[in-house]
Amino acid sequence: MKTYTLLAPAKINLFLEILGLRSDGFHELVMALHSIGLADRLTLRANGTENLRLFCSSAELAENEENLAYRAARLMREQFPQAFARYGGVDIELEKNIPIAAGLAGGSTDAAAVLVGLNLLWELGLTAPELQSLGAQLGSDIPFCVAGGAALATGRGEQIDPLPTLDNLWLVLAKYQSLTVSTPWAYQTYRQQFEENYLPSGAAQRGRTQEIHSGPLLQGLFQRSPVQVGQALYNDLEKAVLPAYPQVAQLREVMAATGGLGTMMSGSGPTVFTLCETESQVQEIKTLIRRQIPDPDLGLWTAPLISHGIRVLA
Ligand code: C5P
Repeated sequence: MKTYTLLAPAKINLFLEILGLRSDGFHELVMALHSIGLADRLTLRANGTENLRLFCSSAELAENEENLAYRAARLMREQFPQAFARYGGVDIELEKNIPIAAGLAGGSTDAAAVLVGLNLLWELGLTAPELQSLGAQLGSDIPFCVAGGAALATGRGEQIDPLPTLDNLWLVLAKYQSLTVSTPWAYQTYRQQFEENYLPSGAAQRGRTQEIHSGPLLQGLFQRSPVQVGQALYNDLEKAVLPAYPQVAQLREVMAATGGLGTMMSGSGPTVFTLCETESQVQEIKTLIRRQIPDPDLGLWTAPLISHGIRVLA
């Protein structure tokens, strides 16, 4: 039987605004997401047993139900027992390149790749919307990761509307390797401080969503203006994460002063990115950051913005 190798890109948030609380306990969000060229690689093959097995290149990652990639495989087995009975168990090899618990949807994109890969391996013929709706059962970012590119994500983040992608732009990404931020903690901390400002669900939230639709970030994307997008980057979760992690706040300040188009924390952090116009500019900015923060714990990456999600390599 065939082996499939898939590329699973990370994402950044160009925009993340928290509107209020939902009846399911999640937050109602408006986000603008963009795929980036920093990617994990997954290989799926039938293993001739009755087991789903996950093998990770990183010792930091669990190879069991704790791992979203494993949970995605288990969900597919539950949903398609006949295909599982016919094709048998699967080995999933995960080469981890995206930093973990970093606000870059690394776990979500791996899960999205497993959904896409098993759809092929088991010849299920599911459409992208069908895979996205399965993904939404496991995590809010997974539907975006399936399709990738650029999208406005609403609801709890699982409702996706495509946006124009920003081609030919680059990022410097920075994260203290030893630092991870828990997403539930970030939302909970935000809620403790700002719940009184939450909009009631209904007309008020719809009105705010409309304002964001016609606001500067989306205008910048539709006009393909990197300068405007750089100036309109926004993330509510910075208000919860930066005060609790002064090291990240200081990193953000250093990066913002390097002359890129804009700097922002991605998702629930702690990765901070700077948007740049050219590949040579990202290299200069990376060197500048390294000079100002020589701490060996600071990881730096460069990546282009890209226009696709999960891609089948072979
Ligand atoms: O959906 P996902 O599993 O990625 O969410 C992780 C956690 O982040 C949730 O358990 C919840 O605490 C928080 N969250 C939220 N509202 C959202 C998305 C996530 O409160 N829209």
